[in-house]
Amino acid sequence: ELPTHVTIYEVGPRDGLQNEDVALTAEIKVEFIRRLLAAGLPIVEATSFVHPRWVPQLADAAEVMAQLSAEAEVLPVLVPNERGLERAVELGVRHIAVFGSATETFARRNLNRSLDEQFAMFEPVVTAAADRGISVRAYVSMCFGDPWEGGVPVEQVVAVGRRLVDLGASQLSLGDTIGVGTPGQVTALLDAFNAQGLPDSALAMHFHDTYGQALANAYAALQHGITTFDASAGGLGGCPYAESATGNLATEDLVWMLHGLGIETGVDLDALVGTSRWMAGQLGRPAPSRVVAALTK
Ligand code: HMG
Ligand code: MG
Repeated sequence: ELPTHVTIYEVGPRDGLQNEDVALTAEIKVEFIRRLLAAGLPIVEATSFVHPRWVPQLADAAEVMAQLSAEAEVLPVLVPNERGLERAVELGVRHIAVFGSATETFARRNLNRSLDEQFAMFEPVVTAAADRGISVRAYVSMCFGDPWEGGVPVEQVVAVGRRLVDLGASQLSLGDTIGVGTPGQVTALLDAFNAQGLPDSALAMHFHDTYGQALANAYAALQHGITTFDASAGGLGGCPYAESATGNLATEDLVWMLHGLGIETGVDLDALVGTSRWMAGQLGRPAPSRVVAALTK
């Protein structure tokens, strides 16, 4: 039995733009975010309060959020540590996402911390956010495979997710950072989370389309009972600290499938495609999304 409604958590302005070489102005990013909201996306992850040297593409996070204070309620941001939270709080941010790694190597490469140390970094962030009524989502990266470590055991992924929930995260987003997972693995991972007391309602899926598996994986998760999916307008995306990570599941491709299944998203596909085409013009290359290509004459 498929759900009647799915929540799309749009990550284009963050996961999409963090990996682009073309420098965009804060004004263009703000327009991108406004157009995504206008296209009916209910939540748009807007930027990252990470170290500006680590992700120079999003170094203008404060400038972007300052122009969007009226929309703070629907614009979560990435925050890795206490310094990031301080910066976000100054801008009136209401929702944050911490991002943990299921593997030792990616924790070190992405966060400059060991796997264990990442929790010590997040703990005061989650506590301080709760004190301020700020909600916390937590990502788990490398849920199916890691470029340096290969396959990642399900138990290891579940243990990391469990620790993030125990810290106080209200939703876990399970990331296939390098897009290697296949549908049977998705089902097995969700079963394992459910068995540890984390129901599908507490979980979101975050697919990258590197190996062309994202939509098949999303369908497996949908059949399992997942109703929140991360996606990126036009299929932009990747992680600068994960070699071989390419674009996210394209929001348009996901919307096409969901609407075809009679599942509501609230998204106006034409408005979304128009937004991705406009962004492709800004970036000087066509959007990776198949649906954007198909609807572009
Ligand atoms: P570090 O070098 O260990 O930082 O980096 P530190 O704690 O040692 O601090 C060093 C200096 O940086 C200090 O300044 C801090 O104040 C400053 P100093 O006292 O020396 O002058 N600093 C900051 N400045 C501004 N904002 C901050 C901040 N933090 C420290 N937030 C750190 C640790 C976590 C900061 C660094 O590793 C980092 O920024 N990493 C971010 C990497 C990233 O953004 N990756 C992409 C997102 S993850 C992803 O894409 C995966 C996902 O999509 C899911 C999936 O696909 O799986 C989410
Ligand atoms: Mg990602």
